[in-house]
Amino acid sequence: MKSLLTTTRMAALALGLAVSSPLISHAQKNYKPTKENLAAREKFRDRGFGIFLHWGLYSIFGQGEWYMTNANLNRDEYSKVAGAFYPAQFDAAKWVAAIKASGAGYLTITSRHHEGFSMWDTKQSDYNIIKSTPFKRDILAELRDECRKQGLGFHIYYSLLDWHRDDYYPIGRTGQGTGRTKHGKWKTYDAFMNAQLAELVRDYNAEAIWFDGEWDQDINPGFQWNFDKMYAGIHKINPACLIGNNHHGEVHPGEDFQMFERDVPGANTAGLSGQAISKLPIETCQTMNGMWGYKIIDQTYKSDTTLIRLLVQTAGRNANLLLNIGPEATGALPATAIDRLEKIGKWMKTYGKTVKDGVREGIIPPQEWGVSTQKGKTVYLHILDWKSRMLSLPLTERVKSVVAYDTRRPIPFQQTKLGLTLSFDKAPSEANAIDYIVEVTLH
Ligand code: GLC
Repeated sequence: MKSLLTTTRMAALALGLAVSSPLISHAQKNYKPTKENLAAREKFRDRGFGIFLHWGLYSIFGQGEWYMTNANLNRDEYSKVAGAFYPAQFDAAKWVAAIKASGAGYLTITSRHHEGFSMWDTKQSDYNIIKSTPFKRDILAELRDECRKQGLGFHIYYSLLDWHRDDYYPIGRTGQGTGRTKHGKWKTYDAFMNAQLAELVRDYNAEAIWFDGEWDQDINPGFQWNFDKMYAGIHKINPACLIGNNHHGEVHPGEDFQMFERDVPGANTAGLSGQAISKLPIETCQTMNGMWGYKIIDQTYKSDTTLIRLLVQTAGRNANLLLNIGPEATGALPATAIDRLEKIGKWMKTYGKTVKDGVREGIIPPQEWGVSTQKGKTVYLHILDWKSRMLSLPLTERVKSVVAYDTRRPIPFQQTKLGLTLSFDKAPSEANAIDYIVEVTLH
């Protein structure tokens, strides 16, 4: 009798899937990051905060980036909106300047989302911004150039799954109603993806590739994405290019950073982040409102206080925050998003030093009252939830001084073998509603 594994492999072969031996790992085998890659990881950590941009044809419908599959839109009808895509207000210099002023150190832009439309001058398909829209401008190239000019890191999101192409076959758990009836071969889709990725890494200088959609194929047992080849191909072109994959699972060999969706590492309120925390650099992505792509009815923007606290909470867990904006079809960033960027930027001007540029999680693990961050001998306590005027900390290292970050006023402290106790003359929440920062200097 054939084993279940053999049967699955045979079924997969019959579907024309690339199948690798179960003995061969499905990610980059024996991956050893180069010196340049390790340096890029530290740079990524130092940057601390990034802005995610979900932009594609879906912005025209104003219903988020999942509209095509949620409403079972026929791909031939859907693709006609490309002929109306003319984001006249798009100004890469303005976008990058606004993002930079928020204190962010990098941006991550969707090059091709699940809808299958490429936002750059790809040579691998005509379904792209140059060939299929009247706009005919390469927004990816413009953003890359501006990022370089203004000193911002440039990361690229890439969807593994595709609701448009026939050769994205077998169809996955999403996009089942988009009208693909002819089925091509996975081999050509695989070649298409790898050729696109080569363009993005080589010609668009992606400092990181942010993969998404692996989970789409979890309904097809035995399916192999061939990450081994894909990751090795990227690292061959640029060994320093960081690879991350939003698969919600444990990191595959070959990945250079780990991501969490909608939750700080260790929390799993949205049900997407149950994976163990790895030793790689970490990034948590979150929306400013409720959706990634522009959604006209979604005005549920989080307050600036909530967003700044989220940034602090991620920094205290050694993670970057990647905060999303869904640009409009006009080419403008939504006004509320710009307002939030400005407010975060104002806070970052004074306090950015406590969450980025070489700052890592602090010696004190996250507590009920907040988190700690640290650079060298300087520990920053971020008090977000004030309970009492005494604060006892599990810190046994010898302390030299304790001051309020804002006023530099000394804060009385007592140190015993059990830890450090601080006494405040007034509640920190009265002093600073967003995040009261205490600076502790160690001996
Ligand atoms: C999910 C969604 C996708 C979005 C991503 C961002 O994977 O499918 O639309 O781009 O999250 O984290």
